[in-house]
Order: sequence, then structure tokens, then C-alpha cells
Amino acid sequence: APIEVKKIVCIGAGYVGGPTCAVVALKCPHIQVTIVDVNQSRIDAWNDPDFNLPIYEPGLVDVVKGCRGRNLFFSTEVDKGIAEADLIFVSVNTPTKKSGLGAGFAADLNYIELATRRIAEVSTSSKIVVEKSTVPCRTAESMRTILEANAKPGCRFDILSNPEFLAEGTAIEDLFAPDRVLIGSLQSQEGLDACAALANVYANWIPKERILTVGLWSSELSKLAANAMLAQRISSVNMLSAICEATGANVDEVAYAVGKDSRVGPKFLKASVGFGGSCFQKYSLNLVYLARSLNLEEVARYWYAVVEANDYQKNRFAKKVVDTLFNTITGKKIAVLGFAFKADTGDTRESPAIDLINHFLSERARVTVYDPEVQESQIMLDLTDYGAKPAEPIQKAVTVCPSALEACKGADAIVVVTEWKEFVNLDWQSIHDTMNKPAFIFDGRNILKRQELKNIGFKVVSIGTGDRL
Ligand code: UDX
Ligand code: UDX
Ligand code: ADP
Repeated sequence: APIEVKKIVCIGAGYVGGPTCAVVALKCPHIQVTIVDVNQSRIDAWNDPDFNLPIYEPGLVDVVKGCRGRNLFFSTEVDKGIAEADLIFVSVNTPTKKSGLGAGFAADLNYIELATRRIAEVSTSSKIVVEKSTVPCRTAESMRTILEANAKPGCRFDILSNPEFLAEGTAIEDLFAPDRVLIGSLQSQEGLDACAALANVYANWIPKERILTVGLWSSELSKLAANAMLAQRISSVNMLSAICEATGANVDEVAYAVGKDSRVGPKFLKASVGFGGSCFQKYSLNLVYLARSLNLEEVARYWYAVVEANDYQKNRFAKKVVDTLFNTITGKKIAVLGFAFKADTGDTRESPAIDLINHFLSERARVTVYDPEVQESQIMLDLTDYGAKPAEPIQKAVTVCPSALEACKGADAIVVVTEWKEFVNLDWQSIHDTMNKPAFIFDGRNILKRQELKNIGFKVVSIGTGDRL
């Protein structure tokens, strides 16, 4: 029979572990939830008396306020947390390998393995171990092997895969009402019992029919598949945007018409400057690597094309800016609005803004940047590739501004990279007055009111429309 879960520990207080387990604590007041991390400053931020949490997510502060100190705790005492728990979420980072076999494609499982070995070492009672980080297929199997080889007598470990599908910016909404929760387990009695124990935790707030239970490997593959298929939709619509620009069709009209087909559906068909974020590219490339390692070269090539198309889209957009500005941006001032990879987040991982600004800098433009949620220090880390490039020339060419108005002052062109709502209703007339003429706007998200801007006198370039300027 399934055990009743009373204490949960989550290893890793990052983007996934933090919000996920905070919501578990909020919704399950009878369960004690401890989130542990080796990173002291991150834990300190989660414990901040003024709730300046380490990540920005709408609604997150209220969740943490609702249960921190009651049944939600943040700590660096990893071993103690593990020893006390009956269920362990492993939510550590799985970055892409930078060297060795599979460099650039495969996930680096070092952190998972270290955490797994730690669990084996300090556990003196049986545990359900839940793989929450996204990992390649069969990682659960490796974790099981490590745990079983190192288990103390009388300790058994049941491994579950429970991938997280939340999107940043809507993490709390997604966690409160997910489309589905997916739990993978071995199909043995013990595996099914462990699965039921975790399902019972989620059943505190999620309707039973949304809790899907499948085999371990289906669960692991589903996470990669979901991300790769969403990325594929965006690449598909972006590749149509290039055709629209060449023909005079309008990609928003095309996407709307296509999405009305209930077999296709309307979501994730917004043409853009290219997708960013820590997930789409990474998991598409993980899938490419998986296919290659299974000797499925055609399959690998199919998924690789999704990422290639995204690179092409980013490049195409950067080139269009240069072409439109009479083939040179040397010494010109380009105002970049938005640096986060999407709206409502301060996250900049794989943001298209990074590639675009690098392109503008290589053409020796001056760049101003404004983003409501991204700090200057983060922008500099991204543009210097975390110190790999010398900071001085970048600091000279790039100015981070406290407002959109400030960033646009005296610019030759404005480039909208992130779809922050506040950009739609800026005082565009005043901005136009301060700019060099002709004043160009490149709308990388198709969010601006094109006709109004044209009436003011802007030359407007959107994604996926032949009707230019
Ligand atoms: C298709 C479009 O559906 C229709 O809107 C358009 O007007 C004409 O082309 P059709 O070719 O008649 O219609 O059949 P459809 O049901 O779309 O199936 C096309 C092929 O895809 C079939 O071979 C079908 O077996 C296959 N298919 C369909 C799959 O392999 N998997 C699926 O999930 C769906
Ligand atoms: C994604 C998945 O949506 C989520 O299920 C998974 O758990 C993690 O990866 P996330 O990366 O946080 O979430 O954000 P998402 O909303 O999916 O956007 C990813 C990127 O695609 C962003 O850069 C976004 O701007 C872009 N995008 C999204 C488009 O360009 N067009 C669209 O139609 C949708
Ligand atoms: P994700 O987006 O997957 O949540 P993050 O990088 O935001 O990834 O968070 C992962 C967290 O896991 C980091 O804060 C890191 O310090 C933590 N971590 C990694 N390995 C361990 C470990 N062995 N024990 C405890 N915490 C760990």
C-alpha cells in the first residue's frame, strides 16, 4: 500500500525546485516541506525577511508568505533534510555539457549523480526519490543503480520521474492548475505504490484525471518531447514569417487561420524574433543527442532543424535591422527594449536579446537597453559571456537605462525584443520627437500598434509582413 508522505525535501532551490515545492507546501499544510541547496546566498534570499526572493515570478511572494516558517523551510543543511524526509525531489541543475562526449548537446548529469550519491550515503530509512530535473531517458535507471549499490541495510529506494512543465512568468498559475501532472514509475508493485504516494500529494489540489501515471521511460521522454514539439511550432511559424515577408502575406493572419483548425490549435503560434529560455533549445538538443546515440541520424536531423531555424530567425532579424538602416549601423544608436527571454520574467537565459546585441556590437553600433526586470549586472554578465569576453569595450558601447523613454532618447532605431506590456502604450509621440529621423522601430514581437506608430511618423518593421515601413 502507498505510504503517507509526511516530510518532503527538495534538493535544489532554483527555478524549478523553489516555486514547485513552495506550492506543494501551500497546498498541503499537513506535509513539512524543506528546500535545501548548497548555495548559501540563494537560501538566504529565499529566507529574506522582506521577501526579496532569488527569482521573480508573479504570485510567488504570496505563496512563500503563506507558508514559510509554517510548513515550508529553506536550508543549506542538505544531509539533515535528506535524512528526515520520506520523499525527496531531486531538482538540481542539468546544464548542457561544455566539453567531452556530447558537448553542446548532452545534459551534464554530474549534479544529479552527486545528489544521488548523497542520498544513498545519508539515508537511514527508505525513501521515494523523485527525479524532477529534466534529464535524458534512463537517468532514473542510473539513479536506481547508484542508490541500490550504496544503500544501507533496510533502506529501499523507489525512483519516480515527475517532470515539471511550468513556464516561467506563469509558474504559480501553472502549478495551481496544471494541464497535467505526469508521474513515471516502474510497473512493479513497489513502483506503483510509490507512484500512488506522490499522486496522493498532488491530489490535494489537482483533479485526479489530470494526474497521469505512466512508465518511467515514457515520463522521461515526454518532457523532452513536449518542449521540442512546442519549439517546433514556433520554428514552423517563424519559417512561415520569412515567406510572408517575401510575398506580402501577413504571418499573424496566417497563424490565426491555421490555429483555428482544432487539430492544430491556437497556442504557441506567435511569430517572433526567435525563442529563448533555458528549455527549448536545450531539450531539443538533448533529443538530438539521444537520437544520435541511438544511431537514429534522420531523427536527430529532424529535431536539429528546429534549433537551426531559430538561429536563422534571430540572424535574419538582426540583418534586417542593419539592411533597413541603409546597410550600416556603425556609430548609430540602437535602443533595445526588453532583455528577458520573454515577458513577466527576469530570466535572461538564451534570450534572443543577447544574440541581437552581439550582432549590433559587431557592426560597431552603440546600444542602449531597458528591461523592467533585468539588472544591469546580469546584462553585463550575458554580454561578456560570463567574463569570457573583455568587459571594457562592451561597457563603452552599451548603456543600460532606467526607463524605455531614457533608452530611446536620440536613438536611430528601436528594437523591441521582449513582449513587455508596457511597451505597447509608451508615449510614442514624445519618443519620436527625440529620435534621429527617419525614426525606425523593429517590432520583434508584433505587439505594437503599427498604424498609430506610422501616423506619428515612425518607419515600422514587423515580423512576417511584406507591408514594410
Ligand atoms: C488532409 C487535411 O486533413 C485536410 O484538412 C485537407 O483539406 C486535405 O488534406 P486528408 O489527406 O483527406 O486531409 O486526410 P487526413 O485525415 O488529414 O490524413 C492524411 C494522412 O495523415 C493520412 O494518411 C492519415 O492516415 C495520416 N495521419 C493523420 C497520421 O498518420 N496520423 C495522424 O495523427 C493523423
Ligand atoms: C517552456 C515550456 O513552455 C514549459 O512547459 C517547460 O516546462 C519549460 O520550457 P518557458 O521557456 O518558461 O517554458 O517559456 P515559454 O512560454 O514556453 O516561451 C519560450 C520561448 O518561446 C520564449 O522566448 C517565448 O517568447 C517564445 N515564444 C513562445 C514565441 O516566440 N512564440 C510563441 O508563440 C510562444
Ligand atoms: P533549474 O532551472 O533546473 O531549477 P537552477 O540552476 O535554477 O536549475 O537550480 C538548481 C539548484 O540546485 C542550484 O541552486 C544549485 O545550487 C542546486 N544544487 C546543485 N547540486 C546540488 C546538490 N548536490 N545539493 C544541493 N543543491 C544542489
